Amino acid sequence: MKKDLISIMDYSKEEYLRIMELAADFERNPNQRLLEGKVVASLFFEPSTRTRLSFETAINRLGGRIIGFSDSNSSSVTKGETLHDTIRMVSNYADLIVMRHPLEGSARYAAEVSSVPIINAGDGANQHPTQTLLDMYSIIKTQGRLDNINIFMVGDLKYGRTVHSLLMALSQFENPIFNFIAPEELQMPEEYKLYLREKGIRYFEHREFTDIISEADIVYMTRVQKERFSDPIEYEQVKNVYILRNSMLKNTKPNMRILHPLPRVNEIHTDVDKNEKAYYFDQALNGVFAREAIIAHTLNLK
Ligand code: CP
Repeated sequence: MKKDLISIMDYSKEEYLRIMELAADFERNPNQRLLEGKVVASLFFEPSTRTRLSFETAINRLGGRIIGFSDSNSSSVTKGETLHDTIRMVSNYADLIVMRHPLEGSARYAAEVSSVPIINAGDGANQHPTQTLLDMYSIIKTQGRLDNINIFMVGDLKYGRTVHSLLMALSQFENPIFNFIAPEELQMPEEYKLYLREKGIRYFEHREFTDIISEADIVYMTRVQKERFSDPIEYEQVKNVYILRNSMLKNTKPNMRILHPLPRVNEIHTDVDKNEKAYYFDQALNGVFAREAIIAHTLNLK
């Protein structure tokens, strides 16, 4: 049976830990030619820098070949071809499909149509499971554990698919504490809070975090997702609500690290970049090792 990765909940806790082990192995030795003779399709219907390029780096380091597009305007989608037909066709050509698409649920639909595994590289505001696995790898590398993590999620918690996936994954570990810092309009959607309540997991909602940042193990900053607002005035009102500055980090824990899926706009001032607690560029590098691990696991190569 093919093994898709559409939602972070498609993997068990044991599989998360297996990916962490494999990512560490690929970090020690990134060039392992496990994909020799295989073709991976990279279909990006929505813009990307890190996800697409780190997947392509991972595929190259594994010795595979890549087909696909980074702009669907160069594909037959512009002639009216449906997602159904596109996926049916591409699954004839490739051994694995990595897909980003603006519509929630599109990745699950693609998995139903495809004869080869689908890896969801982000479907609208829904899920971004490969980002979550690299986030977890970043947490385990910097904290030495995935249990007992006090995580602050800051910014656009409504449309930010990375925080939705990460919340669900960390909920599989012991005693997480979630602090949600967002303006009223961009708070964590009710379905995710209900999920936490049903599991008896603590979460707190705040409008500000300067006076409580000393409690955090991880501060996970997010960009306000301009492309998901239907009303530009609403975006203008919230776009600069939270800006993390170096001066705010004085009383933080020694182990605290700042993560951000990137790209950032204004939400982390550049004066934070030189602080040893700024981990977001290392986090993006971890994406290559985590994605090598996900590909190897998906195709049973290791
Ligand atoms: N983190 C992330 O998904 O970045 P890109 O949109 O550049 O792929």
